[in-house]
Amino acid sequence: MRRMTPAAAAVAALAFAGPAPGEPREPPAPQRHRIIFDTDFGMIPQDDAYALMLALHSPELEILGITTVAGNWSIEQGTADVLRFLEIAERRDLPVYAGADMPLVHEPDEYARTTYGSWWSDAPPTPPPGGFAEKKAEALGAVQFIVDTVEQNPGAVTLLAIGPLTNVAMALRQAPGLAAKVKRLVIMGGAVAVLPDGAGNMTPAAEFNFWVDPEAARIVLRSGIPIELSPLNVSRKAAMTRAWFEKLVAADTPFTRLIRELDGPRYAEDPERVVFMYDQIAVASLIDPTLVTTTELYVDVDTNPGVSYGAALGFDRIWPGAEGARKMAVQYDLDWERFIRMFIERVTRPIPARPASQR
Ligand code: BDR
Ligand code: CA
Repeated sequence: MRRMTPAAAAVAALAFAGPAPGEPREPPAPQRHRIIFDTDFGMIPQDDAYALMLALHSPELEILGITTVAGNWSIEQGTADVLRFLEIAERRDLPVYAGADMPLVHEPDEYARTTYGSWWSDAPPTPPPGGFAEKKAEALGAVQFIVDTVEQNPGAVTLLAIGPLTNVAMALRQAPGLAAKVKRLVIMGGAVAVLPDGAGNMTPAAEFNFWVDPEAARIVLRSGIPIELSPLNVSRKAAMTRAWFEKLVAADTPFTRLIRELDGPRYAEDPERVVFMYDQIAVASLIDPTLVTTTELYVDVDTNPGVSYGAALGFDRIWPGAEGARKMAVQYDLDWERFIRMFIERVTRPIPARPASQR
């Protein structure tokens, strides 16, 4: 990852003049990350599904388990979708743990019900493509799985959280001391106004994942876990256009057939369609940190009811009200060409043949 010096970061963060290029760093030695993939999953065209495709085809990542959380969809829908997705991907061996069905505090109101996301829904899930999976979720819940896995592998597990942070916050509350045993936490969430492109997408200032569960986001960001934040500032550098989409579906694999079937019609209807690749950036930055540029900021989340509920705020120093906030690496720029080429190359790889017991 390219990081700026603290002084350069402060200037870039506060000048509002766009990011000064970070100092290029030597690529770190390749490592294999043991991860828990925490997701408010939804079938393609949801970005979480694209992100999981990328993770499954990346030998740098060993997925220990997939934990679901309510966000884009209800917990029942997200869990049903990921179970079916793993069958399509021939990865029935990967365990799925269902997690929180509601945020810690946030009650759905009319705005939540009509703007975006179905985290609040108690409607029965609709069948994913091909019908409901035969594969079942594990009996163990997501929170307990996170606690057990981190406790049993202190300093060795990276959490990748690409939905509301409810499961992670609950795990931290349940097991005091857990934060010190987590190796690293990569989060897709927030929008940081002090950096370029820092508007929210759910409200003027709040990004969806943080807005759904602001109290959880605040607990997690203040936990002391080494965090890399992948906010909307960097997502907005990753716009999938039809031209790139055509390159993606030019190959013929089970994944690209699924993409063509479920996302193709949207590009056909609107050739000018542009979709931001939120969760995919978080995954990609773990695989290859040199794809993104980061700056070190204290980041906190507004949990006060009102106009800024769920907004992330970042600054180069602690400010009144943010006592207890922690410094973290905040992504704000992306090497788009290198990222999209890597994404397409990996997602279009043939699904490797596996022994029947692992399919
Ligand atoms: C985030 O919210 C969800 O809709 C996406 O999956 C992504 O994680 C973007 O704001
Ligand atoms: Ca997500």
